[in-house]
Amino acid sequence: MKNIKIEISLEVFDSISELPVSIQKLMNKAHEARENAYAPYSRFKVGAALQLETGEIITGNNQENAAYPSGLCAERVAIFHAGSQNPDAIIVSMAITAKSLNALMTTPVPPCGACRQVLAEYEVKQKPSIEVYFMGETGKIVKANSVKDLLPLIFDNSFL
Ligand code: THU
Repeated sequence: MKNIKIEISLEVFDSISELPVSIQKLMNKAHEARENAYAPYSRFKVGAALQLETGEIITGNNQENAAYPSGLCAERVAIFHAGSQNPDAIIVSMAITAKSLNALMTTPVPPCGACRQVLAEYEVKQKPSIEVYFMGETGKIVKANSVKDLLPLIFDNSFL
């Protein structure tokens, strides 16, 4: 038996003003998208914005449903939209922001496991890494340089 140690490095920014200007703009697009989330059941609104290499920005937000599992997270709404409308465009970065209507969310909110798996599929497909930035309503922003840093022991098409 031997142990395997997996090390992940993330960057933490104290506020939006510390981010590169292009990412500030992307995060602001995610904030705008977040406000249009349809989240009457959880009262938890999430917005996501994708920066494509073409310069285009694609956004998404969470869409809930009375039949709860039929809803979809903001990240998957955004990336499936990008995949359907711009299938060959490289995704450079993603910004995610979340706001609870019950309390001020100051903790960075990472994408859920299912969204990480979906993001990983697109990163593997395109090859260049996708930078992922995530935050709450306010406060610190966390940056992962690659989806792989959010999903160690990734399951991808190499196993099929
Ligand atoms: N949600 C997202 O949109 N993204 C995540 O990564 C985590 C959760 C949504 C799903 C649901 O509408 C609400 O947040 C509460 O779970």
